[in-house]
Amino acid sequence: MERTKILVTGGAGYIGSHAVVELYEAGFQPVIVDDFSNSQEQAVRGIEEILGVRVPCHRIDCGDVEALRAVFAEEGSLRGVIHFAASKAVGESVQQPLKYYRNNLGSLLALLTVMQEFGVPHLVFSSSCTVYGIPDQLPVTEQTPTKPATSPYGNTKKICEDIITDVVKAPESTVRAILLRYFNPIGAHASAKIGELPLGVPQNLIPYVTQTAAGIREKLTINGDTYDTPDGTNIRDYVHVVDLAKAHVVAVQRLLDVRGEAVEVFNVGTGRGNSVLEVVHAFEQATGQKLNYVIGPPRTGDVPAIYADVTKATEVLGFRTTTSLEEALASAWKWQQSLVSE
Ligand code: UFG
Repeated sequence: MERTKILVTGGAGYIGSHAVVELYEAGFQPVIVDDFSNSQEQAVRGIEEILGVRVPCHRIDCGDVEALRAVFAEEGSLRGVIHFAASKAVGESVQQPLKYYRNNLGSLLALLTVMQEFGVPHLVFSSSCTVYGIPDQLPVTEQTPTKPATSPYGNTKKICEDIITDVVKAPESTVRAILLRYFNPIGAHASAKIGELPLGVPQNLIPYVTQTAAGIREKLTINGDTYDTPDGTNIRDYVHVVDLAKAHVVAVQRLLDVRGEAVEVFNVGTGRGNSVLEVVHAFEQATGQKLNYVIGPPRTGDVPAIYADVTKATEVLGFRTTTSLEEALASAWKWQQSLVSE
């Protein structure tokens, strides 16, 4: 039987590459689109080694309507799109807001245009818990009010959600969408053939932790320990990237199977909050590595605490996480070691 074709924009990126693997293993035919501006060919090789097959990959900028049209025409019979391709560095977005609005809004507009032209009916969009800002109540549900974003990056996620909602609700729309609001993705594929490849000095916690343990960085600086949390450090919901990738598979399956609402929103996290210090200690426990760290000042724009209520994703999508924090951190460490030994 022919596999159902799903286009994965940003399919060579961190979450995208894991989603490509999970889609293929669930019986779909993923087709990668990536401009490799913040990803590497190595990810595609890793995917193909895991799967033992070639995966179609188009090197194009997703904001280029003509190039997208050519891909849709060449591939034919696409049934859906998972849209990961985006610029994602919060700090950089403050420095270069235009780049973020241009890339993140431009690629979505191009994609929706071409999806409508070719009658491709299903879209899964990478959103972020950043849309909740500093929430008044924890955990956050999908009903928790969204708040003005604290960075241009966060703002693009909210605006993209609004664009998709308006487009799919239009009377003549042929597209339906699921918006997945991710919490903090961490870890790597068990094979250590794909994982996160941060360029330069990592801004995110886990790559900084693994690079410190590997001796690439001298020490981790914890961004403040005087927040109103039990140990004073920030609380996040760290979800293993393979669990997160699987959420995309069940979201695609729902769009294909159920003629539901035009747009649905789901939180994708574990439902657990862990502090930065808890992560540091869990990493030491899971890997046996001692981590050199100091407490520094708070980072501007950081949300003190956020974690997900995942009841809706569990009940409607059948989404379940299967990986503990320790296992996720061990997988991140295995991935880091594979990079060092290359
Ligand atoms: N942290 C440190 N030291 C570091 C790096 C991070 O203490 O060197 C702390 C942060 O202050 C924060 C936690 O570790 O408390 C997690 O930080 P990350 O940068 O890994 O993740 P964020 O929660 O800041 O950001 C993530 C995504 C963004 C998204 C945001 C939404 O990376 O894309 O969640 O809240 F916008």
